[in-house]
Amino acid sequence: MPANKKLLILPGDGIGPEVIREVRRVIDWMDRRRVVTFDVSDDHVGGSAIDTHGTPITDATLQKAKDADAILFGAVGGPKWDTLGFQLRPEIAILRLRKELDLFANLRPATVLDPLVDASTLKADVVRGLDLMIVRESTGGIYFGEPRGVETLPDGQQRGFDTETYTTNEIERVGRIAFDLARKRKNRLCSVEKANVMQSGLFWRQTITALRDREFPDVELAHMYADNCAMQLVRNPRQFDVIVTSNLFGDLLSDLASMLTGSLGMLPSATLGAVQPSGKQHALYEPIHGSAPDIAGKGIANPLGQILSFAMLLRYSFGLNDDAALVEMACVNVLKNGLRTSDIMGRGSARVGTGVMGESILRELDKLAA
Ligand code: IPM
Ligand code: MG
Repeated sequence: MPANKKLLILPGDGIGPEVIREVRRVIDWMDRRRVVTFDVSDDHVGGSAIDTHGTPITDATLQKAKDADAILFGAVGGPKWDTLGFQLRPEIAILRLRKELDLFANLRPATVLDPLVDASTLKADVVRGLDLMIVRESTGGIYFGEPRGVETLPDGQQRGFDTETYTTNEIERVGRIAFDLARKRKNRLCSVEKANVMQSGLFWRQTITALRDREFPDVELAHMYADNCAMQLVRNPRQFDVIVTSNLFGDLLSDLASMLTGSLGMLPSATLGAVQPSGKQHALYEPIHGSAPDIAGKGIANPLGQILSFAMLLRYSFGLNDDAALVEMACVNVLKNGLRTSDIMGRGSARVGTGVMGESILRELDKLAA
């Protein structure tokens, strides 16, 4: 029996707890059926932590996150906490987790599953078979750059400012992750910035090129301006294999890419830190959909993005490739059977809520494991 794997679950706000509930059922199923068991604990983050502790994430929760082998994150934020001011945003929870655990590589796959090819707003012929990976830098850039603030100018006006900054090391370490992933896929990497406008963008381009020349001469590298990339993603998304980009451009382009697949509700993500000398690697897994306050509490949220994030956790943090594939296969089968949550409804499919979707996945798991 392998030692228990320490899993910290942070459901957060909005639909976060609803979709996490379905993952818990998958975890229970695995506990019952298979050799792997998890040592699971949960905690508050985001608005739910503001309500209980007066802060978006406590130091104790951060410590638990550092001690865990992997973190499964739901979503944070909602109108209830919108008026508390910039220092008390629920979003601070995820930003602090990324920063303090040094989770610098945010992997955001966008794959079009065959049963969902008609759920995209783009023509099926454009997106069929799409399998794209965006590697977003997630601890640097304008999200964290200093100086930042709002100051009063001598003429009485105010001036708000943030700073985009990247060091050689920050670019190289996320670049290595992206080049490595490309090698395991179609061997093509597209690096995205605004080298035509931003000094830091030109530096990004030069640093990635030098890294390729030095360490990855076998990988095909292209460069693209971020605005062009947004256009190309809609025009012909299958031209891309792996994209590597900064924190802000990655935030935008990954939302865009998610829509190629039909629903934001479908997409998982992994955010990885460096492998430490002890062999441990911090890692956080979250769907990219966010807290979706407009549909929270209605039992209609799509749990697949969260469940597929759990599958990524099994694969990347614990090397449980077979178990990950099993969970992914169960999700695909449920879709093949025609079950859909509202966000991915298509003609001729049956509309189900969060709980029925979760139950159906358990039934598929039973069948697959039989
Ligand atoms: C994301 C989200 C976050 C981000 C927010 C919630 C801070 O949009 O993970 O993409 O901007 O990084
Ligand atoms: Mg985002």
